[in-house]
Amino acid sequence: MKVEKLLHMAGGAGDSSYAANSKIQEKAILKVKPILEEAIVEMHKNLHPKKMVVGDLGCSSGPNTFLVLTEVMKIIGKQCRQLVLQPPEMQFFLNDLPGNDFNNIFQLLSSLKESVRADKNTSSVPHFVAGLPGSFYGRLFPSQSVHFFHSSNSLHWISQVPEGLESNGNCVHLNKGNIYIGKTSPPLVVKFYQDQFRRDFSLFLKLRFNELVPGGQMVLAFSGRKKRDIYNGELSIIWGLLSESLNSMVLEGLVKEETFDSFNPPFYAPSMEETKAVVDEQGLFEIRDIQMFESNWDPYDDSDEHIVSDNIKTGVNYARCIRSVLEPMIASHFGAAIVDELFSRFAMNVANHLLKENTKLPILALRLKKKEQMFTKV
Ligand SMILES: C[S@@+](CC[C@H](N)C(=O)[O-])C[C@H]1O[C@@H](n2cnc3c(N)ncnc32)[C@H](O)[C@@H]1O
Repeated sequence: MKVEKLLHMAGGAGDSSYAANSKIQEKAILKVKPILEEAIVEMHKNLHPKKMVVGDLGCSSGPNTFLVLTEVMKIIGKQCRQLVLQPPEMQFFLNDLPGNDFNNIFQLLSSLKESVRADKNTSSVPHFVAGLPGSFYGRLFPSQSVHFFHSSNSLHWISQVPEGLESNGNCVHLNKGNIYIGKTSPPLVVKFYQDQFRRDFSLFLKLRFNELVPGGQMVLAFSGRKKRDIYNGELSIIWGLLSESLNSMVLEGLVKEETFDSFNPPFYAPSMEETKAVVDEQGLFEIRDIQMFESNWDPYDDSDEHIVSDNIKTGVNYARCIRSVLEPMIASHFGAAIVDELFSRFAMNVANHLLKENTKLPILALRLKKKEQMFTKV
C-alpha cells in the first residue's frame, strides 16, 4: 500500500467529509489546549522571536485546521498584550500528505481572516499561512527554522504497512482475519507493528529536532492505548468491529476473502510507556509533559456513564466519523461500491458492542522541548 498516495481524509465539506465529521478530533484538540498554552507561553518567554514559524503536521482540511492556528495566535496575542510587547510576525505552515484537500483550506482562508480580525487577542498578530504538502516522515523545513510544531490526531498513522506483514506474492497472509492487531494475530504481527512505530517515531523525532530552533517545542497528540492487553487495546476493538463487518460481507460473497486479508492499514496506537521509551532512547527532547486523555466514541456524548444511553445513535454517529477518515482508503482497496453497506454494518456492530462495554478513545498528548547543544544526522 502506497501510504503517501492513498492516505487522505474524505475531502470537501459535504455530509460525509472529514470537515463535517471531525468533532471527536476537535474535542481532543480542546482537551490538549492547556498543554498547548504552556508550550507556546514558555517558548515565547524564552526566545522572544520577532518572527515565529509554526508547523501543523497532519492538518487535514476542515474546522480543526484553523482551530489550532487561531488558538496559537490567541495565546501569543494574549501573552504580548500582557507583557506590552509587539507580537511576532507569525508564519504558519499547514502540512499534510499531497492527497489532502488543500484547496478547501485555501478557500476558507478569507473566513479565517475575518474571525482573526474580530478577536481582540488575534487582531494585532500579523500572520501568513502556507500549505506544505509532504510526509512528516521526511524533512519538511530547513535546519533550525521552526519555533513550534503541533500535530493532532495524525501520528498514529505510521509511514507504511509494517515491514513483513504484507504478502510477498505467495498469498500467505500473516494476519489473516484481522485488519490490525486482533485477538487471533500471531505475536510476530504485534512485533512488526511495534517495530514500525518505533522506527517511524524515532525518525520523526530526529527530523523535527533538526528543524527546530534551539529552545523550540512540540505538542503532539495522537491515538494511544490505555489497556494493558495489546491484543485487546481500544483501537484493536474498533478495528475488530470493522473487521467483523468486512468478514460478514466476505461470507455473503460481497467482498473477496483475498481482498479482505490483504487489507492492513498503516496505523498503530502506542501505550504511554512505549512512546516515552522512544523519546528517552533518542535523547533529543526533554519531556515537559505527557498525559493520556479519554473521550467517548460518540462526539455528542460527554457523559461518564458506564453504558451509553442510546447505543444505536452512537453507532451511527461513530460510523460517520470513522467513515470520513477511512473512506478513501477503503474505496481504493475494496471499491467504492461497498462503502455504504460496510459502514451501516459497522454502525450496528458498534451499537452492539456498546451494550457490553463503553470503550473509550485514549488520546496521548506530549509536550517536548528540544534539548540544547546536540546535532543529529538523519
Ligand atoms: C485525522 S486527520 C487529523 C487532522 C487534524 N489535525 C485534526 O486534528 O482534526 C490525520 C491527518 O494526518 C495526515 N497524515 C497521516 N500521515 C501523514 C504523514 N506521513 N505526513 C503528513 N500528514 C500525514 C492525514 O492525511 C490526515 O489528514
